[in-house]
Amino acid sequence: MLILGIETSCDETAASVVKDGVDILSSVISSSVRQHRRFGGVIPEIATRHHVENIDRVIERSLRDAGVTMRDINAVAVTQGPGLVGALVTGISCAKAIACGLGIGFIAVDHLKAHVYSAAMREDAPQFPFIGLVISGGHTRLSLVEDFDRFTTLGDTLDDAIGEAYDKVAKIMGMGYPGGPIIDNLAKKGNPKAVKFTCRPVNNSLDFSFSGIKTGVLYYVTSQGAKFNARDVAASFQEEALKVIVKSSLRAMKEHNIDTLVIGGGVSANSRFREMIRESFSLEKFKAYFPPLALCSDNAAMVAGLAYRMYKKGITSSLDVSVAV
Ligand code: KG4
Ligand code: ZN
Repeated sequence: MLILGIETSCDETAASVVKDGVDILSSVISSSVRQHRRFGGVIPEIATRHHVENIDRVIERSLRDAGVTMRDINAVAVTQGPGLVGALVTGISCAKAIACGLGIGFIAVDHLKAHVYSAAMREDAPQFPFIGLVISGGHTRLSLVEDFDRFTTLGDTLDDAIGEAYDKVAKIMGMGYPGGPIIDNLAKKGNPKAVKFTCRPVNNSLDFSFSGIKTGVLYYVTSQGAKFNARDVAASFQEEALKVIVKSSLRAMKEHNIDTLVIGGGVSANSRFREMIRESFSLEKFKAYFPPLALCSDNAAMVAGLAYRMYKKGITSSLDVSVAV
C-alpha cells in the first residue's frame, strides 16, 4: 500500500511516499530555516508563505523520486497538529484536495506520535507497551505508548521545550540558528564541569522546565562580558539539561515496569544524548530506539508511516477535520 505523507507543521515543507508503513520510497524536505536565521527563531508568516509557495513542487518531486504517479497512491496522510496554524492549514488543505480529487482515503496524523513512529519505522519495530520520548523544538514529552494511536502523557515541559532551550542558548551566545547542532558541536570540545548550571524535574514529577537553565546561561554570559568560553558554556548547559531527560526517562520506565524507550524529534539527533542513553541503558539492560538521523527532524515519511498503521486499524479521517494546534 502506498501512502503519500505531507508535513507542514513548522518550517519544513515535506512530502514522502511510503510503502506498507516502513519502506520509504521518497522523502523530500524543503526548509525555510535560512530565512528565519536572522530572527533567531521561526517566524510563522515566513514559514507559511514558504509552504504555500513550495508545497506543489515538493509533492511532485516526492512522487517522481518514488517513481510513481498520483494515480498509484492509495491514501494521503497529513500532519493535523500541533504546530503553527497557518502552516498546518496549508498542508491539510492540500491533502484534502488530493483525497477529494482522487477519491482516496485521508488520514490526519498527530505530529508528536509521528515523531515517535520515526524510531519505530522498521521491520523489527519495538513491542508495546513502551515509553515514548519526544524531544523537539516545540515539545519535551514522555508518554506511555500502548499502540501507535494510544498515548498517555506522563510528563511534559511546563515552559520552554528542550530544542527551544538549545536555540535560545545559542542565540544568547550570538551563535546563530538553529542552535541544537551548533551547541552539539561546540560541546564536543568543551568541559561540561566548567560552569555550574542547574536543571531539575518539576516538583519531583516527570514534568520538565528548561527556562531556568536558559536564564542561568543568560546571567552567566552577561556577567562574563565578551570573555566567556562558548565551548564550556555549551558543554555545561547541554550536560545538565540532557541529564534530566535521561533520568526522567529511566524513572518513567521503572515506574511502569517497561524496558523500552522510543525517541523522536530534532534533539534526538544530538550526539551527546545518544551517548548518555547508551551509557545508562547498558547498565540497566534497557533498550532504546532512535530514528535514523534523516528522520529526527520534521519529515513526511514518519507521517505516511504512522498513517499506514492507523489505516490498517480502520482509522481514517473525515474531510471536515480541522487543524489541531
Ligand atoms: O523536531 P524538529 O525538527 O521540529 C519540531 O517539531 O520542533 O526539532 C527542531 C529542534 C530545534 O530546536 C533544533 O535546534 C533541535 O531540534 N536540534 C538539535 C540537534 N539538531 C536539531 N538539538 C540538539 N542537538 C542536535 N544535534
Ligand atoms: Zn517536529
